[in-house]
Amino acid sequence: MKLKDFKLETFFAKYEFNVKHLMCASDCESFTVGDLLKLEDIAEIHLKNHWLGYTESLGHPDLRKEIAKLYDKVSYDDILVFSGAEEGIFVFMNVFLNKGDHVIVQFPAYQSLFEVAHSIGCEVTKWQMHDDNNWELDIDFLKESIKKNTKCIILNLPHSPTGYITSKKTFKEIVKIAEENNIFIFSDEVYRFLEFDEEDRLPTMCDVYDQSVSLGVMSKSFGLAGLRIGWIASKNHHVLKQLSSFKNYTTICSSAPSEFFSILALRNKDIILKRNLKIIQDNLKLLDEFFTKFEKYIKWVRPKAGSVAFPRLLIDKDVEMFCLNLLEKKGVLLMPSTNFDYGTSHFRIGFGRKNMPDALYHLEDYIKDQF
Ligand SMILES: Cc1ncc(COP(=O)(O)O)c(C=O)c1O
Repeated sequence: MKLKDFKLETFFAKYEFNVKHLMCASDCESFTVGDLLKLEDIAEIHLKNHWLGYTESLGHPDLRKEIAKLYDKVSYDDILVFSGAEEGIFVFMNVFLNKGDHVIVQFPAYQSLFEVAHSIGCEVTKWQMHDDNNWELDIDFLKESIKKNTKCIILNLPHSPTGYITSKKTFKEIVKIAEENNIFIFSDEVYRFLEFDEEDRLPTMCDVYDQSVSLGVMSKSFGLAGLRIGWIASKNHHVLKQLSSFKNYTTICSSAPSEFFSILALRNKDIILKRNLKIIQDNLKLLDEFFTKFEKYIKWVRPKAGSVAFPRLLIDKDVEMFCLNLLEKKGVLLMPSTNFDYGTSHFRIGFGRKNMPDALYHLEDYIKDQF
């Protein structure tokens, strides 16, 4: 199996840690170890006594119990812990897909959601989303794309990089179509709990459809990417068993301190999510003003969830040149859509970090200079 270069991650590796104003991060503001330890009085003592041997390969039972509480109908034995969401994607695709299988992937997408399938030799149909109709998923396209060998629909809701969430009605329709055609669903839900209006929160796929897995992670909504803790939840224990068997060839088990901090964070999830949503809402107010001011030059489809959006340049300029020039002149990093193989006009903007207002100030300066 040969994997193509992961464009977005390569771009980040080059710039992420040496730019002045990172404005395209996909996650929420993180925390220090000290911040997390303050969440519970005896956390520090427990940390000092935490054993640093190998951990249980399925994930620490307490961690799996805390993760299960994020779902309505899931129990801890429906959970398998991974090293980040990325390992969950890689392992699932390798276990579940074979050369010649057909998959349908919501697009644009985080590259591994289609690239791993592609590398295995699967036929990949991109379920294209467009900002002209507010990124709405076209159900007829899904129906028409199904073939005899369609094995899996790969969803990402709330969606990255657009911040789109489908309606509950459309969500149900997707599940119905999958069920009728005996198609499995891989549901990337790493931005769940960051819906700006709680009413928009979709059911988690593994609660409503047994032929599915739901992917979660500590990185995005919880802002704890450095822990590298992700998980797959599923009622399908046959698939879970295969995933855990494959994991013995990747990471075997998780980092013990990361499991400790993830348990602590999840026990206090309401505090963490409230803090992160407040940063997002404050930043969004500024972005709304900004994009209204510059609506002649940039199209803004307001996201409904998450900490990223995907605006479009309305001017005749290649977005990669625009981003690199912005970086050179003002030290602000945006992510051009060329890293998503999605044309030359969009860019990903991140608004989960506390320093976004400062970055926006410099972006505005740049736009004023240009136009
Ligand atoms: C939609 C989506 N899924 C999965 C991942 C991988 O998450 P992690 O880096 O925490 O493994 C990302 C990371 O950006 C993502 O945007």
